[in-house]
Amino acid sequence: MRLKDKVAVITGGAGGMGLATVERFLAEGAKVVIADFNEATGAAALAGASAAGFGANARFIRCDVAQEADVAAAVALAVSAFGGLDIIFNNAGVGGAIGPVWELEEAEWDYTFDVLVKGVFFGIKHATRVFREQGRGGAIVNTASVAGLSGGCGPLAYSAAKAAVVNLTKAASVQLSPDRIRVNAICPGFILTGLTHPAQKSLAEAGAFLDGMQPWPRHGQGADIAGTALFLVSDDAGFITGEAIVVDGGLTAIGPDLWTRYGTPREATMSKTRLNRGTTGAANTTRELKK
Ligand SMILES: NC(=O)c1ccc[n+]([C@@H]2O[C@H](COP(=O)([O-])OP(=O)(O)OC[C@H]3O[C@@H](n4cnc5c(N)ncnc54)[C@H](O)[C@@H]3O)[C@@H](O)[C@H]2O)c1
Repeated sequence: MRLKDKVAVITGGAGGMGLATVERFLAEGAKVVIADFNEATGAAALAGASAAGFGANARFIRCDVAQEADVAAAVALAVSAFGGLDIIFNNAGVGGAIGPVWELEEAEWDYTFDVLVKGVFFGIKHATRVFREQGRGGAIVNTASVAGLSGGCGPLAYSAAKAAVVNLTKAASVQLSPDRIRVNAICPGFILTGLTHPAQKSLAEAGAFLDGMQPWPRHGQGADIAGTALFLVSDDAGFITGEAIVVDGGLTAIGPDLWTRYGTPREATMSKTRLNRGTTGAANTTRELKK
C-alpha cells in the first residue's frame, strides 16, 4: 500500500489512463476524487470503484478543466471529503484541433489550449494553494505527450499544447521546490484508450494496430501510465522534480528511424555483423553471428 491515506485528484479520471490510475491509486490505499467532463463514464468509474470495494475512498465530480471554478471545486471536494490533498494528476485531454495550420480557427485553437494547457495550470494553481496551506509538500503529475517533444508525433495544435505542458511542468517545479511540492510530467507514446481506439475497429483490432507502432512488441496500456504516475507521486521519487518522463515502448528512442526509411530492412542489419571501413580504400568485412 504505497499511497495509504494519501488524497488524490485525478482529472480525466473517468476514462483511459486516468481511470487506470484511479484504479491503481485506490488499490494502493489512496482516496481519490475523479474529476471528469463525462458524467456517464464518471458514474461508471465510481460504480467500478465501489464494486472493487473502494466506494468509501472514491468521489466523482463533473468538471471541465478549462473552467477554473470546476477545478477549484474538485480540489475543494478532496479537502471536504477526505480532509486534505497530497496529489493531483492533471491528465484530462482531448485530440483538439486537427488540420493544416492555415485552416485552424481561433476557437478551435483556444479549445485545444484551454483543455490541455489552461486545465493543467488551474490544477497546479489550486492544488498548490492547498499544499502550501497544509505545509507538508505535495506531488503534481501532468500528462504531456511525446507529441510535445518533436514536430512529427501529433496534430500541430496538440503538439504545441503538450510542449507547453512540459515547460509548465519544469517552470512550476522551480517555483514550488521551496515548498517541497514536486512537479513532473509523463509523456506517453501510443496508449490504447478511447482516444486511440477508432470507433470502426474492435478493441482487439485497435490493440493489434498499435502493437506495431513502437519497438516494444506490444501496445501501451493505461496501466503503464498508472504505474509511472504511482512511482512519480511516491516517496521513491522524492528527489525527482521538473522531469518529463517518456513512457512509449521505445517510440521516441527510435528517432528518425533512418535505417527503415533508407530502405534497409531490420533483417539486413541484424542477420550478420559487418565492419564498414567507409571510403578509406580498406576492405569491409562481414562476420556470421556467433549465436
Ligand atoms: N492515448 C494516447 O496514446 C495518448 C498519448 C499521449 C498523451 N495522451 C494524453 O493522455 C491524457 C489522457 O488521455 P487518454 O488517452 O486516457 O484519453 P481518454 O479519452 O480515454 O480519457 C480522457 C478523459 O479526459 C476527459 N476529459 C476530456 N476533456 C475534459 C475536460 N475539459 N475536463 C475534464 N475532463 C475532460 C474525458 O472525458 C476522458 O474521460 C490526455 O491528456 C491525452 O492528451 C494520450
